[in-house]
Amino acid sequence: METKLWNIDQGKEIYQEAAELLRSGETVAFPTETVYGLGADATNPDAVKQIYEAKGRPSDNPLIVHIADAKQMQEFIAEVPEKAEKLMEAFWPGPLTLILPIKPGVLAESVTAGLKTVGVRMPVHPVGLELLRITNRPIAAPSANRSGRPSPTTARHVEEDLSGRISAIIDGGSTGVGLESTVLDVTSDIPVILRPGGVSTEQIEEVIGEVRSARNIPKKEEVPKAPGMKYTHYAPLAPVYLVEGGAAFWDKQIKRGLDRGEKVGLLLSDELAAEIREPVMKIKIGSRAQMDEIARRLYDGLRLFDHTDTTLILAETFSKDGIGDAVMNRLEKAAGNKYLNETSELPR
Ligand code: TXA
Ligand code: MG
Repeated sequence: METKLWNIDQGKEIYQEAAELLRSGETVAFPTETVYGLGADATNPDAVKQIYEAKGRPSDNPLIVHIADAKQMQEFIAEVPEKAEKLMEAFWPGPLTLILPIKPGVLAESVTAGLKTVGVRMPVHPVGLELLRITNRPIAAPSANRSGRPSPTTARHVEEDLSGRISAIIDGGSTGVGLESTVLDVTSDIPVILRPGGVSTEQIEEVIGEVRSARNIPKKEEVPKAPGMKYTHYAPLAPVYLVEGGAAFWDKQIKRGLDRGEKVGLLLSDELAAEIREPVMKIKIGSRAQMDEIARRLYDGLRLFDHTDTTLILAETFSKDGIGDAVMNRLEKAAGNKYLNETSELPR
């Protein structure tokens, strides 16, 4: 299949053409404020199937449905709890996905992977929002990457992963937040954060009080989970290790890697990069004091290694405050939770 590439500078007509493709059951990748999404009509099973096929996504991992107007939810959501109303008021349009109970029979079953709930979000990016408004259908849209890869923050990233596998891509430049939306289950009395993201726990608690984090809930308790969080994710081709320690510790781990014959690459802040002496490739993703920028550049940084001959990636760790929680969540998944610190150094 040939993938059309549109740029938003081509004018308003592209929205009509893209909406037409979506309404006729095809797939279109478009920018949101978090990452690029791969959209298809959420009410059309054949269209949704193309998303799973293009991404190579496991069929038990449900999709997020995107809307341009909260009224659209009446068609497919059974009930909106009061806390959800407050959150929509505070954060929509924006990077917050709410898990809500579905009205059966409207959305393709594959969207929810058979669950009785669905994730809904209204993006704030002008291009994504305008496309949704003109299409005027609920649009299922996971991140527009091959399953397991870092999510795309530019149209180039989408092309790398999906060119020839989807109908079109709308290039609207780099996304702003750079990490996916926060996924919050609001079907229980105390809502549960299933995936940290663009809206922080602190911001959510300011609006509705206490929330729980899926990872803090004891195993024996029955908890809702984001099925997607059990898969390996966000991973570049070379293995990633998270390094906890000062510059001297870093230099020691780098030397060990080099002694083993590895091509070592570093993913780190401007500050740490200035302290490392070993002459290896450094991909800098911004200042530690600007965690928003680290979030925005993280996936591009991870993807850059795939264009090099790096065989071992050492990545910096960051504070989990605010957006740092989402940054560390993605880094831990990219690394498969492999840490290097005083108790576990790189093997010689
Ligand atoms: O920022 C975002 O959310 C982006 C943009 C494109 O909107 N989309 C995105 O979709 O990240 P995706 O499919 O890559 O991630 C959706 C996550 C998965 O972890 C999935 O398991 C979870 O949301 N999810 C979806 N529906 C769910 C449900 N009914 N219950 C629990 N988790 C759900
Ligand atoms: Mg994804």
